[in-house]
Amino acid sequence: MNRLLPFEATRGKGSGSAPGAEGAVPFDCIGIGVYAIDHISLVARYPRANEKTEALAYLVQGGGPVPTALAAAARLGSRCAFVGKVAADQEGDFVLSQLARLGVDTSMVVRARRGFTPRAMIWVDQRSGRRTVVLNKPDGFGLTLQEASRARLLQGHILHLDGRDTQVALVAARWAKEAERTVVCDLGSVRPNCQQLLRYVDYAVVSATFVRQFFGTRNMAAAARRLLDSGPQVAVVTAGKRGCWCAADGRVFHQPAFRVRAADTIGAGDVFHGAFLFGLHKGWELPYILRWASAAAALVCTRIGAQAALPSFTEVKRFLTAVGTGQERGVEHSG
Ligand SMILES: Nc1ncnc2c1ncn2[C@@H]1O[C@H](COP(=O)(O)OP(=O)(O)OP(=O)(O)O)[C@@H](O)[C@H]1O
Ligand SMILES: [Mg+2]
Repeated sequence: MNRLLPFEATRGKGSGSAPGAEGAVPFDCIGIGVYAIDHISLVARYPRANEKTEALAYLVQGGGPVPTALAAAARLGSRCAFVGKVAADQEGDFVLSQLARLGVDTSMVVRARRGFTPRAMIWVDQRSGRRTVVLNKPDGFGLTLQEASRARLLQGHILHLDGRDTQVALVAARWAKEAERTVVCDLGSVRPNCQQLLRYVDYAVVSATFVRQFFGTRNMAAAARRLLDSGPQVAVVTAGKRGCWCAADGRVFHQPAFRVRAADTIGAGDVFHGAFLFGLHKGWELPYILRWASAAAALVCTRIGAQAALPSFTEVKRFLTAVGTGQERGVEHSG
């Protein structure tokens, strides 16, 4: 890809990739982060302590912010590869084969002989579509820098990171910046080294929970501005049904969420990231990327699951055509 990404032309901060500098770059996007197996139960209402209830539906899928984002981007048409770790167990086989079926290259995934593939127990409240997650992960299971390897991480034009193991993410982001890759990160909650990590990130697309913890504010427009001041050239804060706020070029833009009947909100943020990566690599204008990502995220909310329910390019396109240009159109934020 030898063209400018959105905002480069106006900001001149140079986040474009330089394929020539590091040899061939086979992927649009490389992702590094945690991968788990999700056990999802849909319940009529959350049980109280000591209460028993029956699931209305049960689903097993691969889950985790980065792999799900890559799967969403691949489903839309991007060439993606995942650099991560799962155990050499049945669950690991299952999640890797699901990712591969969705079109993500898994040849750089490390199989650990010890421990088990991280697993997430998820309850979805049928009335609201909201979910509660319990993650069970072996201690010290994360990918080491040697396992991640600089050569692997530079095989994409874009590097997408989660904020779980910020020690590894920090070095990975630095390598990527040195090689003039574009760095995108998804921060869901505050962990050590976040501040330093943000200095190496071009596009920070973070959750409302993260900015509440990090900046202590519930004002999303202000949070997006402060996030921008932390280093990235573009800062996006997603806030569920309230939509997202994006700060760039000294302006703040609000993209409302699309109104849909949510079956569950699992992976809304991850699919938002995947669609964002897709639009970024396409070189689209930022307001359209936000609208596109919001549409993809809304669509995944209408079905149970995330990797099991990813929208295609045609579905997102049709959805945007159906809602037209009037509804949920982003507006510049003056306050
Ligand atoms: N109920 C919903 N209806 C429509 N769109 C939604 C809904 N929930 C989320 N979205 C869309 O998805 C985007 C990301 O959602 P959210 O802010 O909840 O992500 P998150 O906090 O990272 O959560 P997670 O990663 O666990 O999905 C929102 O900005 C919005 O565009
Ligand atoms: Mg998220």
